[in-house]
Amino acid sequence: MKTMIEYENLRKVNQPYFKEFNTVFNNVLESGWFVLGKNVEEFEKEFADYINIDHCVGLASGLDALTISLKVLDLKNKSEIILPSNTYIATILSVLLTGNVPVLVEPDITTYNIDPGRIEDAITSKTRAVIVVHLYGKPCDMDPVIEICKRHNLYLIEDCAQAHGAEYKGKKVGSFGDMAAFSYYPTKNLGCLGDGGAITTRNDDYSRKARMIRNYGSEKKYYNEYQGVNSRLDELQAAFLRVKLKYLNKIIEHKRELAKAYIKGISGDFIIPSTHPDFFDVYHIFNIRHKKRDELKQYLSDNGVKTEIHYPVPPHKQNAMKFMKSLRFPISEEIHKTTLSLPVSSFHTIDDIQRVIGILNDFKS
Ligand SMILES: Cc1ncc(COP(=O)(O)O)c(C=O)c1O
Repeated sequence: MKTMIEYENLRKVNQPYFKEFNTVFNNVLESGWFVLGKNVEEFEKEFADYINIDHCVGLASGLDALTISLKVLDLKNKSEIILPSNTYIATILSVLLTGNVPVLVEPDITTYNIDPGRIEDAITSKTRAVIVVHLYGKPCDMDPVIEICKRHNLYLIEDCAQAHGAEYKGKKVGSFGDMAAFSYYPTKNLGCLGDGGAITTRNDDYSRKARMIRNYGSEKKYYNEYQGVNSRLDELQAAFLRVKLKYLNKIIEHKRELAKAYIKGISGDFIIPSTHPDFFDVYHIFNIRHKKRDELKQYLSDNGVKTEIHYPVPPHKQNAMKFMKSLRFPISEEIHKTTLSLPVSSFHTIDDIQRVIGILNDFKS
């Protein structure tokens, strides 16, 4: 009996860095400085350099990065914000948490990212911003989105929670919008050992305001300019992220090799991710689609391959979003019904992937 192929294993993901993690952990412990210190400052510089942008502001999570981006813009209450209907719930929550109205737009069925051709139909006199989500690690088609935002005078925010290092036409995501939100949740391609997030931006004022908002709206101790929050990236998490950032390109390269093996090897009636030279995908998730998805998931599990579903329920059908229940997003619903995420973690080997492919190709639907 062969061993099971796990979907994810965060011990194995982090094992290559244990020695360096221990060193930086001891350094932070000895320093006695745990919040907003040298490691956060250095990580912010290093990550901004990586993205090729002016500013990075370290925060407590990806959700906070989205929420604080919207707070920075200080939109009139109940402004409409356009975003994709198949995103992770966090994108929608950030809009609701800031008193704005989410307006969902269907994705393209081949890229799973917002369909630029459908954005204009959703624009009204109350629309103030578009949030694109580079889902699964595939960059959105940015040129038409940027053009629409410019023509309608809309802010552009990128949700890069799943796409560290992804590139569109040779430029990294996180450098296209007015602001961009990153998550460093442990499963992400650049993940810390707890929660973490960041905003990247070219705009000096946005960066300064985000820095204040993350720290109770304060720049000078006990003087508050804004009604802020507490959303500071820990020194420890920043220190761990500095270690991992050095290896991010290697992690991405490895995941792209695994994805390439899948794309070459999978045959049968599975829909595999699209590729195009303009899009440098980083495969936070490698998903396939199949009309008998649940049967396929069970079959793979019975044969020792663990999988996940991103995501089983579309946002507009979640109990938390009852006010959207009457809306219909057939493309989104189709994706949620048929998508299945295959193992593609940094600890997986090409042999693991070849085993998954062999089992997958024997599926009798
Ligand atoms: C697309 C997307 N946006 C935002 C988030 C929120 O990030 P966090 O969990 O760090 O708050 C996630 C998290 O998985 C995500 O996938």
